[in-house]
Amino acid sequence: MKQNDIPDGGGTAVQVRGLVKHYGETKALDGVDLDVREGTVLGVLGPNGAGKTTLVRILSTLIRPDAGSARVAGYDVLTQPRQLRRAIGLTGQYASVDEKLSGFENLYMIGRLLDLSRKDARRRADDLLERFSLTEAAKRPAGQYSGGMRRRLDLAASMIGHPAVLYLDEPTTGLDPRTRNEVWTEVQGMVREGATVLLTTQYMEEAEQLADELTVIDRGRVIAGGGIDELKAKVGGRTLQIRPADRSELPRVVGAVAQAGLDGVAGATADEAEGVVNVPIVSDHQLTSVVGLMAERGIALAGINTHLPSLDEVFLAITGQKTSTAAEDTPADTLQEISA
Ligand SMILES: Nc1ncnc2c1ncn2[C@@H]1O[C@H](COP(=O)(O)OP(=O)(O)OP(=O)(O)O)[C@@H](O)[C@H]1O
Ligand SMILES: [Mg+2]
Repeated sequence: MKQNDIPDGGGTAVQVRGLVKHYGETKALDGVDLDVREGTVLGVLGPNGAGKTTLVRILSTLIRPDAGSARVAGYDVLTQPRQLRRAIGLTGQYASVDEKLSGFENLYMIGRLLDLSRKDARRRADDLLERFSLTEAAKRPAGQYSGGMRRRLDLAASMIGHPAVLYLDEPTTGLDPRTRNEVWTEVQGMVREGATVLLTTQYMEEAEQLADELTVIDRGRVIAGGGIDELKAKVGGRTLQIRPADRSELPRVVGAVAQAGLDGVAGATADEAEGVVNVPIVSDHQLTSVVGLMAERGIALAGINTHLPSLDEVFLAITGQKTSTAAEDTPADTLQEISA
């Protein structure tokens, strides 16, 4: 809509400086700086209560910061909220579709609210329903949609006004893996078409799939940032998980990896409860060497897999501490999962 009308963006679609928001003793945001370059995806990774939704709310002009400044698509959150709101799309953490209205009606209504003519609103709704594979369900009340369908409808709704900047607040929390993949595909499509995206997530894997750069926040502060690869290098790349056919072989697996001194393999730790040995690896070459070593030593395997570090592992590597995920924050997610 306003894509070319960026007074002083200079290629920066979102610019945040020293943002502070306190709720009593709680420092939801405690001096956050970040930039999102036009046409890129910034992943904001953080555990429950880190301040992600607070950040998105401020950048959507839904709440005011206590201090600091932010510009989105060239507009100031404090002094130009109306222009700013026209330049953004928001998919909130909790789906905001009207359950009584059909998928079509939800989108049509938003189009009308955005001042589209009846004809244009209808056309836009039809286009988006098709694009998000909801044409068949278009006439059913959104209340009957599955969690994934609702998310897709929510994404479609945030696209109606052709926003220059999209905020996706934990777009896949509570979704099953297949539905999560569907949402990722849609988001990738939006980015290919030039959208700038600020994505909050608790999943390293989601960040890897979608984000160009990452900012890690915890307790309202930025604790790390940079490219995905930089961050992965910092936290040690992937973890190779080896499951010996016989659990009693766990120490032998650990010993074999330790003794072999394979190039750059830092070591191995047994997870007795899971019956696996975890080996941090940074290259495919190391993966091949470690697996080859098992064959060489005649250790029978029931399975191997590699996984990206979890948020917990990322935090552990960056801060030397476990995430501060507060137990009291969990029920909301659980509820959401049930309702999704
Ligand atoms: N309206 C509010 N009143 C009081 N405290 C709040 C309010 N909104 C947020 N907080 C607190 O501010 C902190 C940051 O909350 P926020 O919702 O931004 O976290 P989040 O990173 O989005 O977490 P989650 O992953 O659980 O969605 C939390 O400690 C939260 O309890
Ligand atoms: Mg949140």
